[in-house]
Amino acid sequence: MQKSLAEQIFQCFKGNPHFTLREAYKANDDKPHETVRARIYDNLGVKFERLTKGIYKTIEGTEACIIMEGDGRDLSMIRDASIDCILTDHPWLDMKSNKGGDRAFAEYDCFRYSLEDFKEKARVLKEGCFLVEVLPAENENNYEYLYQLKQYAKECGLLYYSKVAWKKGNFVSNTGRKSKNTQDIMIFSKGKARSMRLDVKRTKNTGIEHFMSGTNGMLPTFFDVSPVERKYRIHQSELPLTLCEQVLNYVTYKGEVVLDSFAGSGVVGEASLNLHRNCILIELLKENVDKIKKRLSKNFIYNVVLEC
Ligand SMILES: C[S@@+](CC[C@H](N)C(=O)[O-])C[C@H]1O[C@@H](n2cnc3c(N)ncnc32)[C@H](O)[C@@H]1O
Repeated sequence: MQKSLAEQIFQCFKGNPHFTLREAYKANDDKPHETVRARIYDNLGVKFERLTKGIYKTIEGTEACIIMEGDGRDLSMIRDASIDCILTDHPWLDMKSNKGGDRAFAEYDCFRYSLEDFKEKARVLKEGCFLVEVLPAENENNYEYLYQLKQYAKECGLLYYSKVAWKKGNFVSNTGRKSKNTQDIMIFSKGKARSMRLDVKRTKNTGIEHFMSGTNGMLPTFFDVSPVERKYRIHQSELPLTLCEQVLNYVTYKGEVVLDSFAGSGVVGEASLNLHRNCILIELLKENVDKIKKRLSKNFIYNVVLEC
């Protein structure tokens, strides 16, 4: 697991009453000063607080993560309208598209979503909040299924909000008909999207903050984030931490509750805690649950084993 520079700085000064920019430079003397400073500035209000010129402190929250070992398709233990965001990566096997080359097939349980899955997601999500599904890029083998998912979502009141590609840096896979290096981040809102988008014009005119329906800021054309390098991966399909953090910043606020019902490496848990969000992770395989516990051991964790 490779920690972001911001996280390294955070861990280094966690618990200290304060730290100076000079100390941060010294602790990261392999990095240019501007880079260290930029990572601190980018994370003001999230990981760091500015006390006075050149002096900062880490922000340590009381957020918690619950890890459940069990079936993430059964959400019956979660109350109606209690979740602020679902961010999940569908365990779906596409033997046809992955055929050829040296593609590794999923070594975990895979399935196709049913209408019931979307009903449950819609039930636990709060009104206006976002469901984010990480899905394979569309191709000749999966386009009908991907369309079917959007239909299921619609039937359950989960409205198509936006689809943003995840461009995997310079990585390129050359299987199938088209070389590819993207997946899709599909975003739905439960009913009309809540108002997270600052209305700059109205705010300027009135002097009072006004918000429009939609995510916290205009979504980018794509998220450009390299995949986790094999040597740092603890799970075959691990999403990059930065990608999860970027997504969560658009769709949630501090203190809210994020659900990932197919948790894998638990990266969504780490991203949530880093951003001071609470998190519920569900994972079927005990070996993955153990890895998640190790990964998040520095933070509050409640471990629950579900009866499947
Ligand atoms: C695509 S991976 C998720 C990877 C994860 N997003 C990450 O970045 O590490 C899917 C995960 O879902 C788990 N899984 C499969 N079926 C499940 C189920 N019914 N309930 C909970 N977890 C399940 C698999 O064991 C696998 O770890």
